[in-house]
Amino acid sequence: MNNKAGILGIGSYLPEKIIDNLYFEKTMDTSDEWIKTRTGISERRIANDNEATSDLATKAALKAIKCAKLKPENIDLVIVATATSDMVFPSTACIVQNNIGATKAAAFDMSAACSGFIYAMTVAKQFVENKVYQNVLVIGAEVLSRVLDYTDRTTSILFGDGAGAVVIGNVEFGGILSTYLGSDGSGKEFLNIPAGGSKLPASQNTIDNKLHTIKMAGNDVYKFAVRIMGDASLKALEMANLKTCNIDYLIPHQANIRIIEASAKRLKLNMDKVYVNLDKCGNMSAASIPVALDEAYRLGKIKKGDNVVLVGFGGGLTWGSSVVNWSIQGGKNE
Ligand code: COA
Repeated sequence: MNNKAGILGIGSYLPEKIIDNLYFEKTMDTSDEWIKTRTGISERRIANDNEATSDLATKAALKAIKCAKLKPENIDLVIVATATSDMVFPSTACIVQNNIGATKAAAFDMSAACSGFIYAMTVAKQFVENKVYQNVLVIGAEVLSRVLDYTDRTTSILFGDGAGAVVIGNVEFGGILSTYLGSDGSGKEFLNIPAGGSKLPASQNTIDNKLHTIKMAGNDVYKFAVRIMGDASLKALEMANLKTCNIDYLIPHQANIRIIEASAKRLKLNMDKVYVNLDKCGNMSAASIPVALDEAYRLGKIKKGDNVVLVGFGGGLTWGSSVVNWSIQGGKNE
């Protein structure tokens, strides 16, 4: 009997509206060429005015539950990883719990910025393997377009909206072989939203100075990301007693194509073993990894028994990685 937690079902949702690089070319001093060569991004999805993070999360969650061949009332716990919760409280997870009718589930949000999905998956694994809960719904969902300054060319071009979800439960085969998490709060100034919390509550001054939007020291984050993506992946492999040659597929956080290529090189992987959707989606923070994982699975790039490395980094600073031995049959044309 395999006592490991694993992924029972997966789903994702992207809003319909697309903003391409030409939009930014028209509205600020930048170019399609600069954005593509420096980041790899061509376009990103943006939520409609009437869509909140919970709406995207709900759609992804229902797909994941269906994929797991379960019903909402079979879910014991809902965790939403997000940096853009609907409101300060209640948690977005509570709103999703009600939307999907998971009447028996507890619910809470997880705050670890772009690493949030791996953090939430790690928590879910503990609950399942310690037999506290049977089925845990883990969602990474963001509406980052609400916290961007669309006059700041250094940040607004990078991010998009979306949601991805998995159901974590006991699997007969494979499962989550390892998870590794880390943080370094001394880097809190590199990537943050300064206002709207207890330190700097909303005021006319914070609004005038756009302090409710993402602020980033791009170069510092870049250097940190290139180092930590490789280090964290190698650590998760070591914890799973595996080596780089055992990796079948890599699902990296989708922040910048140059960061992804550097990670692949460090792991001695060809880019055909690495999933990239940031050209179409941009950086969706906590939603990036589960959306990429869902797309790769549905395109038939990940098969039952494959060792899939998930790795991400983000504000905090935080980072996380995991080796998942894929346990769901199917994929392509499913
Ligand atoms: N269009 C045109 N020029 C731009 C620009 C844009 N959208 N954004 C920045 N620039 C300019 C800068 O102002 C700078 O000009 P200067 O030399 O006159 O000062 C120049 O381009 C180079 O800026 P730099 O920051 O060195 O560029 P870069 O190659 O490091 O790329 C990022 C910038 C943001 C793309 C890159 O640093 C990055 O991806 N960092 C990581 C960000 C990240 O992952 N964030 C999310 C974490 S979860």
